[in-house]
Amino acid sequence: MWALDIASLFSLMVGPVVMQASDSPGSSETGFALLFPELPPWTSAGETEEMRRESLRERSTGMEADPEAPLVRSANRSIPAGYTYVGQFLAHDISFDPRPAGESGRAPRNFRTPALDLDHVYGRGPTQQPYLWEPAPTAGDRAVFLVGSRHRLEDWGEFVELDLPRNVRGQALVPDPRNDTHVLVRQIHLAVLLFHNRCVAELQKRDIVGHEAYREARRMTTWHYQWAMIHDYLAKIVGRREVARAFQRARSGASTFCGDEEPLVPLEFSVGAFRFGHSMVQGKYELNDCSGPVSLLPFDHGRPFFQGVPLAPRRTVCWDRFFEIEGSRNTQYSRLLKPSISDLLRVFPGRRAEESSLAMRDFTRSQTAGVPSGQDVAKSLGFLPVQPSTASDPLWYYVLREAFELEEGRRLGPVGGRIISDVLLGLLWRDPDSYLHREPNWEPSALARGARFVFSDFLRFAGMPMVDADLPWN
Ligand code: HEM
Repeated sequence: MWALDIASLFSLMVGPVVMQASDSPGSSETGFALLFPELPPWTSAGETEEMRRESLRERSTGMEADPEAPLVRSANRSIPAGYTYVGQFLAHDISFDPRPAGESGRAPRNFRTPALDLDHVYGRGPTQQPYLWEPAPTAGDRAVFLVGSRHRLEDWGEFVELDLPRNVRGQALVPDPRNDTHVLVRQIHLAVLLFHNRCVAELQKRDIVGHEAYREARRMTTWHYQWAMIHDYLAKIVGRREVARAFQRARSGASTFCGDEEPLVPLEFSVGAFRFGHSMVQGKYELNDCSGPVSLLPFDHGRPFFQGVPLAPRRTVCWDRFFEIEGSRNTQYSRLLKPSISDLLRVFPGRRAEESSLAMRDFTRSQTAGVPSGQDVAKSLGFLPVQPSTASDPLWYYVLREAFELEEGRRLGPVGGRIISDVLLGLLWRDPDSYLHREPNWEPSALARGARFVFSDFLRFAGMPMVDADLPWN
């Protein structure tokens, strides 16, 4: 059981990231493990702590030197911008280490379940967290999620329907406060709530009510989400062929992440490869027909992270700006995958200048968690490291470098692709409640509009605005 308050979350942003040499990087107690424990940890060059920090600082400054146009429509035509935040939402489902690693000298610790089970949305369920739920008119007690703010919000003054539920101070009622960081991840969370609620409504028509309706709606929501994550999101970032190969590796026991041992999240994934998504974030996006280009960060309406930011009027997301929707030409795309991140991600509050840089945080976490270098992992997997072969890069940086050099930044390369697809499939395989474990041949055919079910079908079923005509003011 853990208690998370604003102070500890804020310290996630501001606290120094230092782990003592005696820390164990992974174990069943921490919820994390190393995939390649036999490889030496990557460390930045320098004999003293200060020299190593200086070399990290240089690396992260180098990554940030990438001025860009405010709205880049043609960046990575292979990956629409919405997938960036689908990835962020998925990252929040799998791992969360809210503690400032180091202050207590402890190893990283995972406060999420190691599964694609939407625990960051369902929390501990209606019995233990009843304030997230409300009785459905006929479905019985607490089968549907509370949505929107049913009271006049302090400083805001209005009822907001298409938003997360909030208390009077505007604080979102969500199990994981990271899902309220910015408008896009917030609206994806909302879509999951609405998807679940629509499933309950459909079940009611078949006289399935009460706790049974809750359980069945949760299963339907989770399985559709899992399907879209593997067959749509993963296919976009690693390519369809690599997904097929990952299924083969999983079946034949050749996955880098297999076995029946306790499911732990690999540090090479959470503190390494899966942070690749930080490079996809654009500086500004158009949210709908009247927002103009807006920045997701640093702070919506002058309020710091996690301190309650109700949806601003006219900020409802119209999803054709973020996914390719038939008949619409409004799609924006993600940044190319390369060792560079947007200026936007230099804005975190911190006691020291470098703590405001997400790149610096990623490098430091990677070093303190004992994650091996990308080059060593490449060799261990049987790949020739990208040039120069004498270089030694932290894994998350290497994953971006190979994506740019081998795939022109359009999708992940062999090391990033292998780790991410094996871990995601492995986590699904090991979860006794996942569709892959319980019904490997299950398909969400009923909800698919085209040949297959994609993330925008999930949003559409949830009732999110897909084109301008769906927006509340049109
Ligand atoms: C605007 C977008 C985003 C912001 C502001 C953001 C911010 C952050 C911050 C502040 C951290 C904690 C850094 C630390 O001290 O270690 C973090 C961690 C992380 N981020 Fe992001 N991120 C964004 C998008 C993404 C995306 C698109 C992905 C992947 C596709 C991603 C994957 C991760 C992962 C895996 C972690 C580690 C989570 C944990 O185990 O605690 N993030 N992010």
